[in-house]
Amino acid sequence: MEIKVERAKTLKEKPDQSNLGFGKYFTDHMFVYDWDSEKGWHDARIVPYAPIQMDPATMVLHYAQETFEGLKAYRDPEGNVQLFRPEMNAKRMRNSNKRLCMAELPEEDFVEAVETLVKYEQDWIPTAPETSLYIRPFMFATEPGVGVHPANKYKFVIILTPVGNYYPEGVAPVKIWIEDEFVRAVKGGTGFTKCGGNYAGSLAAQVKAEEHGYTQVLWLDGQERKYVEEVGSMNIMFLINDTVVTAPLEGSVLPGVTRDSMLTILRDWGYKVEERHLSVDELMEAGRTGALKEAWGTGTAAVISPVGELCYKGEEVLINDFKTGELTQKLYDTLTGIQWGKLPDKFNWIHKV
Ligand code: COI
Repeated sequence: MEIKVERAKTLKEKPDQSNLGFGKYFTDHMFVYDWDSEKGWHDARIVPYAPIQMDPATMVLHYAQETFEGLKAYRDPEGNVQLFRPEMNAKRMRNSNKRLCMAELPEEDFVEAVETLVKYEQDWIPTAPETSLYIRPFMFATEPGVGVHPANKYKFVIILTPVGNYYPEGVAPVKIWIEDEFVRAVKGGTGFTKCGGNYAGSLAAQVKAEEHGYTQVLWLDGQERKYVEEVGSMNIMFLINDTVVTAPLEGSVLPGVTRDSMLTILRDWGYKVEERHLSVDELMEAGRTGALKEAWGTGTAAVISPVGELCYKGEEVLINDFKTGELTQKLYDTLTGIQWGKLPDKFNWIHKV
């Protein structure tokens, strides 16, 4: 892939690293790559970060053919730049695009585009503790027209944003609302894809959870509203007695890169791990009796996020007295230790830029 570069005439001032929040500041440049059914992928370019002009009939605005990814770039203690398992994001985006009948980007092009843009913008990678450069690749239908069919034109774009913690709580326990009215996904639907539509459909429950003082929603399965699946912005795992339990990947749950990495580490440490259906009744009972020792979310944005409280149909259960559990902390330290290059990369997950 040949990537042309157009440098921005003026560069922005970098934000204060102690107050980055999440996704508020964007770097000076972005990557853009176009696809149409005649030329295929063409015109790979790094250009100044700027608005994208669209015809009002552009198909993504009407029928939501849009997918995205999320990964991060880190600086190791020597100042080198590294990515964490970018090929997993490349593969997941292809799978998302296949489901939404969109153009598929070759995985090596995805990784090369991420690498090239991150290298070009490397001065933006923050170095303060718990910060990184969040990478947001996304693709959308650009063909104008209001007939419903797969578009014949797409744009793949990557933008970068220096970030701190995703949750305002920082690396501290969050309160989770178990949603019993709305559902996120059903088997056969788009739950396993990272498409904007999944998130649009989740907002009503998110607003409801926030109104009740909860940070995030834990979704139940779409058919029976009985089994726990995932949280709004992360997968979720429970330590019940001595076993780690998480929902299986059966089409309605997002196949998280952090989820996969944590299951690999836990199995390597000799933990009993079960990817199985866990009913909300079993979960709440484990909470009531104290069998539920710890719970944590896993995600690129959320990293490892301790869960301190669950609320289901008005009943609240505290987990580990609303303190970060020992295993949760160990997983956080191990994952971030590998990502920031402070621990050995035993599983070959680090991709040097
Ligand atoms: C990520 O973890 O990278 C995500 O895309 C979650 C997002 C909703 C912030």
